[in-house]
Amino acid sequence: TQSKDLDHHFRGQAIVTFLDQPIDAPLKNRYDVGRRDIMRIIQTTDFQEMSRTAALLILNLLLNNPQAVIGLATGHTPKGLYREWVLARYSLGIAMNGLHFCHLDEYLGLGSDHPESMAAILRQQLIQPLGITPDRIHYMPGTAEDPEQACREYEALIAQLGGLDLQILGIGQNGHIAFNEPGTPFDQHAHVTTLSPSTRKANASAFSNKETPAQAMTLGPATIMGSRRILLMASGSSKATAIQNMLEGPLDENCPATLLRFHPNATLVLDREAAAKLSPATLQPAEYNHPIPLSVFAKTTPLLDSPQRILVCAPHPDDASISCGGTLARLKQEGHELLFISMTTGHR
Ligand code: PGA
Repeated sequence: TQSKDLDHHFRGQAIVTFLDQPIDAPLKNRYDVGRRDIMRIIQTTDFQEMSRTAALLILNLLLNNPQAVIGLATGHTPKGLYREWVLARYSLGIAMNGLHFCHLDEYLGLGSDHPESMAAILRQQLIQPLGITPDRIHYMPGTAEDPEQACREYEALIAQLGGLDLQILGIGQNGHIAFNEPGTPFDQHAHVTTLSPSTRKANASAFSNKETPAQAMTLGPATIMGSRRILLMASGSSKATAIQNMLEGPLDENCPATLLRFHPNATLVLDREAAAKLSPATLQPAEYNHPIPLSVFAKTTPLLDSPQRILVCAPHPDDASISCGGTLARLKQEGHELLFISMTTGHR
């Protein structure tokens, strides 16, 4: 029972803090000197639970910021998330028409109307089903005459939109994020890149001729670090080594994902197989992740600084009331707006 309660606390807090984790949050170095260990790690069982958890985090963000600017990833990893997002759009009726969507990477030579472009995949999996109008999705122009100049213009566009509120990411088997392959300088912004043989092999099945283009445009590590929040998902045993290197290896440009350990508001959602090589110490929630049990009793400190709209999803009603009823009651007393969703078959 105790571990179940902790699990509830951990998840509840992960969702609340995802909204706005203050940059000066208490830090705790756990792995190596100088590491800012504030990345939240949420473990899930499988691809479906990973996708649902990620969707829940995003919907919570959208409730609080219906004008958010969101950076989208493509690939196998976010497919389930996009499916859940589309389902929620219709079942919960959350408005999506104030959002802006940006694009993480695109193959060089493929225009956004090319059926095998990243743009086409996003359109098919998320943009069209959500009913997003074309002026709200900003694709990377893979056929630009001067791709490096187009990258600079894309950075300027993101700045003009007010910067990214959330960047969704997968991770490559070689530790890449977006198409920032091993060796990419951490301070690089959007740029043209040559894909590594392992990336081309991993992505080949998406192409009718089984050949991945050799080059791509990508947001750089510096652009990604500029996003206010990061949500990285990883599923399956093929990602276990990359996840281990990301969290337990040295900070290293040869594993671009290691940079995310220094982001002030990054959340990692892993399934069991992707987390399989992590040590128990890494998977233990960091101190920052579970202040709720203490703060429930510290009546003088508000749980959140400013009024928020909070979506509480509970598998069935008693999960919300027993496991974190005190916290929820207090959030209500403190003037936050709470929306509860619980599920029940109705036969008991
Ligand atoms: P995948 O790719 O989601 O198709 O595994 C992730 C990535 O390369 O970033």
